Amino acid sequence: MTETREDAAPTGKGTILFGGSGFLGPYILENYPDVISVGRTPPSTANRHIQVDNLANLDALRDVAFDKVIFIIGNTDHYNLEKEHVPAGEPTAFDYHVTPLIQTLEHSFPRRSIAQYL
Ligand SMILES: NC(=O)c1ccc[n+]([C@@H]2O[C@H](COP(=O)([O-])OP(=O)(O)OC[C@H]3O[C@@H](n4cnc5c(N)ncnc54)[C@H](OP(=O)(O)O)[C@@H]3O)[C@@H](O)[C@H]2O)c1
Repeated sequence: MTETREDAAPTGKGTILFGGSGFLGPYILENYPDVISVGRTPPSTANRHIQVDNLANLDALRDVAFDKVIFIIGNTDHYNLEKEHVPAGEPTAFDYHVTPLIQTLEHSFPRRSIAQYL
């Protein structure tokens, strides 16, 4: 029997993922071989990885074809993140979660036609 497009298992083609080196990222990457990892640390999986040392400069994505973005950058050290007083110069929960989100959103919209940002 001929496999139709609807029957084919999704491979994640056209999707980039930020946060692939963390705890959650590899679970997605290993199940979707065409998802491209983007970030400062390569993932443990065999997916293509695009090195981006600083999210303030996402020029490395200029020629990459994608219309879906999975964003799972963050920090799971909740004990430290919930501290009321963060010593001067140390990153806050805002730095860990919101700044990277804004940086990747700014790159994705309106420069691209993005179908999904998760
Ligand atoms: N783990 C869970 O069960 C769980 C459940 C619900 C929600 N979450 C949330 O999901 C998010 C990810 O969870 P996780 O367990 O995978 O976290 P994690 O193990 O701490 O991994 C964090 C990921 O974010 C990347 N990252 C952090 N700051 C970055 C920056 N400025 N630029 C580029 N990459 C940066 C890290 O890259 P590097 O390796 O380069 O540092 C790493 O890939 C967190 O916000 C967490 O609160 C987690």
